[in-house]
Amino acid sequence: MARSGKVAVIGAGFYGSTTAQRLAEYDIFDTVVLTDIVEGKPEGLALDMNQSRPVEGFETRVVGQTTGEQGEGYETIAGSGIVIITAGLPRKPGMSRMDLIETNATIVRQIAENVTRHAPDAVVIVVTNPLDEMTALAQLATGFPRTRVLGQAGMLDTARFTNFVAEELAVAVASVRTLTLGSHGDTMVPVPSACTVDGNALTDLMPADRIEELVTRTRNGGAEVVALLKTGSAYYAPSAAAARMARAVAEDSGAVLPVCAWVDGEYGISGVYLGVTAELGASGVRKVVETDLTAGEKAALTEAAEAVRAKQADVQNL
Ligand code: LAC
Repeated sequence: MARSGKVAVIGAGFYGSTTAQRLAEYDIFDTVVLTDIVEGKPEGLALDMNQSRPVEGFETRVVGQTTGEQGEGYETIAGSGIVIITAGLPRKPGMSRMDLIETNATIVRQIAENVTRHAPDAVVIVVTNPLDEMTALAQLATGFPRTRVLGQAGMLDTARFTNFVAEELAVAVASVRTLTLGSHGDTMVPVPSACTVDGNALTDLMPADRIEELVTRTRNGGAEVVALLKTGSAYYAPSAAAARMARAVAEDSGAVLPVCAWVDGEYGISGVYLGVTAELGASGVRKVVETDLTAGEKAALTEAAEAVRAKQADVQNL
């Protein structure tokens, strides 16, 4: 595929900068823009990443841009086909993602307004926590069609689950397929019935109580990393997931990925951003793809939807 287009990453913390680097290394974009409010940081990181081009062998240019309180600098994202919003505070040990809602809502709303002004045709991928609520807020604040605003979480949670299963069974990660739906939080819904190892049902390979332990570890996967790092949260796996979503959009690939998307009748649930599998393309979410669920999984997903719906209603006032 020829190199083309521009993708912007807002926020040059570990999550944002790692995402920008992964996108640049794909070597499919003309330009990756990386912005931050910390003076000089995005420019410095971009300079560093560009200097890795001869070594890693990619031509995509990274452009760093400091942005100001009044939106100064946002003109650099003009023409972006994809904007990834990573800005916001990460968790500290002991915090839940929901503890971040007010602070991060202010940040995401301001960014969304600048995205509307400078990149009105972009597909927006949100990764700021609390994820499901910030995705809903970004859609409200941009006024973009709901199919054009989505969030990253399911790919990350699924990747964690897959990694745990592969380690437990001592098999290649490539042979394992897992799935998580629901929220990126306490009401995450891992779906053991959809999990396979080399095509064989996970439920035939592992005792139910052990699967449940891995499910719990998956649900707490972010907090486990936060507790170890003590400052900041995970970024290698999260950025891998966000970058792959952007790639599916850039290549109009039709990949079906677990993402946070607007649900409109699927699974009997409507009117909420929720973790589901969806087909991604140039327009963002082409369609939500339903998976067969057991009665228990379906009930858990409905419960997750109602929990997230209540919180998403609150974001209108943030
Ligand atoms: C995590 C954060 C990024 O799950 O939500 O690691």
